[in-house]
Amino acid sequence: MIKTKIVIGNWKMNPLTPKEAEKLFSGVAKLVSKIKKIEVVACPPALYIDKLKKISRKISLGAQNMFWEESGAYTGEISGEMLYNLGVKYVILGHSERRALGETNLEVNKKVRAALGVGLIPIFCLGEKERDENHEYLNFIKKQIEEGLVSISKDSISKIIIAYEPVWAISSTLNRKNATPDDSREMIVFIRKILSDKFGKNALDVRIIYGGSVSSKDALGFLQEGGADGLLVGKNSLDAKKFVEIINICEA
Ligand code: PGA
Repeated sequence: MIKTKIVIGNWKMNPLTPKEAEKLFSGVAKLVSKIKKIEVVACPPALYIDKLKKISRKISLGAQNMFWEESGAYTGEISGEMLYNLGVKYVILGHSERRALGETNLEVNKKVRAALGVGLIPIFCLGEKERDENHEYLNFIKKQIEEGLVSISKDSISKIIIAYEPVWAISSTLNRKNATPDDSREMIVFIRKILSDKFGKNALDVRIIYGGSVSSKDALGFLQEGGADGLLVGKNSLDAKKFVEIINICEA
């Protein structure tokens, strides 16, 4: 199976007004009209999605979180079914910023299963907070994968996108460090190996993407030497020009 490369913008809790959201989305939409080979996704705050979906079909929409129950007495939550009914295609799950607020592997797993159940494509995020000389971080990642993917079938694994995001390289991390394409390749090979042990040859079809301060300067490195099937872009997805530069590199 040929894997279509994917560039995903994670807007996080930005921008502050619907007007700014429309401006950013339209700006990207205008500049990506010629993109043919790759998929482009924007994950804005959920309350902007309905407006944005009317602007362009070229950019798929994703949410940044969801709840695992379908409906009911869960104040403040949004279900996967609701997102799906709104026209959302992807959902970021297990992002390090949500894990920092207390989300556990078990909860991420419930969300991944619920997302697949309603036809959403989970963007399952994982990544270590730091790297240690004893390579304990590899066990940490292994646990995130194993616990996050409990009860996922061999048939559905290829629907999931895995986003490797070392927390130490994310733009908002204090004293952040740059990850290199070597860091990315090492982990992507490691993640693929764990998936193969668990899911057999279907693991080869899983898109494993890289995220963490991706810019137009290092995008190519992560895609080529870094072995990534795509990119998850935070800060630089909030600037239409910078985001489209990254998209164009991936398309080329
Ligand atoms: P960043 O964010 O590109 O701003 O580092 C990536 C992410 O957290 O998804």
